[in-house]
Amino acid sequence: MAVGTDAWGELLELARDLRAELDDHARSAAGLPEGPAPELPPPPPMVSAGGGRGAAARREGGPPAAAPRRPEPRPAPDPASIPGIHPAGLAAAPARPPSPVPHRSPRSAAERGEVLRAIREDLGDCQRCRLASGRTTLVFSDGSPDAKVMFVGEAPGADEDRRGVPFVGAAGQMLTDIIENVLRIPREEVYIANVVKCRPPGNRDPGADEVETCGPFLMRQIEAVEPLILVALGRFAVQTLLRSQAPISRMRGRFHRFGAGISLMPTYHPAYLLRNPADKRLVFEDMVMVRGEYERLTGTTLPPVRSRRGG
Ligand code: URA
Repeated sequence: MAVGTDAWGELLELARDLRAELDDHARSAAGLPEGPAPELPPPPPMVSAGGGRGAAARREGGPPAAAPRRPEPRPAPDPASIPGIHPAGLAAAPARPPSPVPHRSPRSAAERGEVLRAIREDLGDCQRCRLASGRTTLVFSDGSPDAKVMFVGEAPGADEDRRGVPFVGAAGQMLTDIIENVLRIPREEVYIANVVKCRPPGNRDPGADEVETCGPFLMRQIEAVEPLILVALGRFAVQTLLRSQAPISRMRGRFHRFGAGISLMPTYHPAYLLRNPADKRLVFEDMVMVRGEYERLTGTTLPPVRSRRGG
């Protein structure tokens, strides 16, 4: 991630503060009886998971109240009205007691891959909406069917449309840096998809009808992969997945429960960060929380955050 050396030191300090806080959460969770994790609220509809913003943010007088300098004005369509998107998130969210560790079916990576291939086949040479006429390539996904972390963006841009792979342009490079240097997970081990699979002309926001048509395919992808953690990138993905019109500035920095127990972290879109580099700090905070949640849920330890100098 293109962060200056001083800024990086500051970010690493933030990371340590947040790690300490997450460790506290994990310790108290370990002592609880069967029931929702303390930072996750009761079942859907999806609501804030109430996790703190971290000691560093509090040191500065609490979470930043300011909205992004370039607010993204148009609200996303209400996914409640989207067929295939269950009000509770995942259409097939089973009725079972909530667990601190989301249930994941025992399907193998190969089986998940098969399901994803079938979804891609269903899409075929999709002509279901008007985006078809302007696209070069339908952009389905990138990454591992067995991913524990899934990223959801808005729609392919010009580079993605040309190459048929999500997040491969400048914003994609930024996302790859975040995944590989902050989360310290190889990009090929996460799963990446978009709310809509075809590039909107001129990179306009996808329309409500386009989300209505394409949204169910994203939901099927989420059901196939069953990630432990979803990262929603940017206002459009956040508002679509969480059925909320709230600004990202109010949603990010804490986990929201998605469907049957996926931890969803809203954060700014990498393209937004290219225009507003000062806000990389906020995304860094969010990703440190994702690291903590990943470690809590998988019982593994990720390598330390990598500084730009290769530390
Ligand atoms: N922006 C997105 O939201 N998705 C992509 O795949 C590329 C850019």
